[in-house]
Amino acid sequence: MAQTKTEGPLARLVIHDLAHRNGPAEFAADVRRGLSSNPKQLFPKYLYDSLGSRLFDAICHVDEYYPTRAENEILTRHAEEMVAGIPDCRTLIELGSGSAEKTRSIIEALLLHQTELLFIPVDISASALEKSSRTLLAAYPALRIEAYAADYLEGLAAMQPLAPGPALMLFLGSNIGNFEKAEALTFLRAIRRMLRPGDALLLGADLKKDRATLEAAYNDALGVTRAFIVNELARINRELGGNFDLWAFGLRSVYNESAGCVEVFLESLRSQLVTISGLKLSITFQAGELIHMEHCYKFDVDGLSALGLQSGFRLERTWLDERQRFSSNLFRAADS
Ligand code: AVI
Repeated sequence: MAQTKTEGPLARLVIHDLAHRNGPAEFAADVRRGLSSNPKQLFPKYLYDSLGSRLFDAICHVDEYYPTRAENEILTRHAEEMVAGIPDCRTLIELGSGSAEKTRSIIEALLLHQTELLFIPVDISASALEKSSRTLLAAYPALRIEAYAADYLEGLAAMQPLAPGPALMLFLGSNIGNFEKAEALTFLRAIRRMLRPGDALLLGADLKKDRATLEAAYNDALGVTRAFIVNELARINRELGGNFDLWAFGLRSVYNESAGCVEVFLESLRSQLVTISGLKLSITFQAGELIHMEHCYKFDVDGLSALGLQSGFRLERTWLDERQRFSSNLFRAADS
């Protein structure tokens, strides 16, 4: 396990870099599997290389992508109430921490009542983790960080048993919506196994709403979402010797209302042959053929409560933004 330890505020930082361990081989195998299947698909976790993480940060600033602003509004307004139910919480874990911008409200609310806090962020992007950790450590002298560059389940599996005292787990940004329904359940159960009865999970979940708002959020006029999604093809070109023509694919984001899910696709704009030399693979695309890139499920509070119950959590309280677009849900780990 690669570990980084340094001087100054960075002496309070340890990064476990698991993402580089099997990363390249896993990426190659998943690209081969996804592009050889029918219909074709690519996997969303590979959207977040160093450039992809920055493109996602940019998405969070475009007008149409409301979830980040809505969640920020809730956290800024209610962080103190949220942490009041977890007195003496010394361990804060965050899965998919990214830039950790929104986490700051929670950290600040916790540090109002105590002089030290261990923050354990897990993110697939080592560069995003390093950058956000540096910023947080410079801002909060009472913070220590033990970070995992890993996918969520790998990060959870690698974590040391939690120190005594209550813990709060954050899973923000509606990342839960990027799982298929069964995967979401498996994932929440893995979180529950990590926590002890009485520990808490704060889950951010985007709410079901009208088609126009949702489709615009996933296909902004500036083209930032397209750049973010097409970057996975660019990554295949960079890392696996692909020759995707990035202009030959368009973004299609479609709300499937009965499933409550925005499906994000790339559409081949002409018939074409793509070669990936590192995989010794050639793939044909028909004009109009789609590559499935992401599921973005949307929720209602009853569905979230049921999901919690099925995975060993009790929904204690939900906060919404003023326009009722997004929800922050405090779950309590039930007795096992
Ligand atoms: C990271 N995740 C919660 C985003 C979402 O809204 O599902 C990913 C995203 N894809 C396109 N835009 C944003």
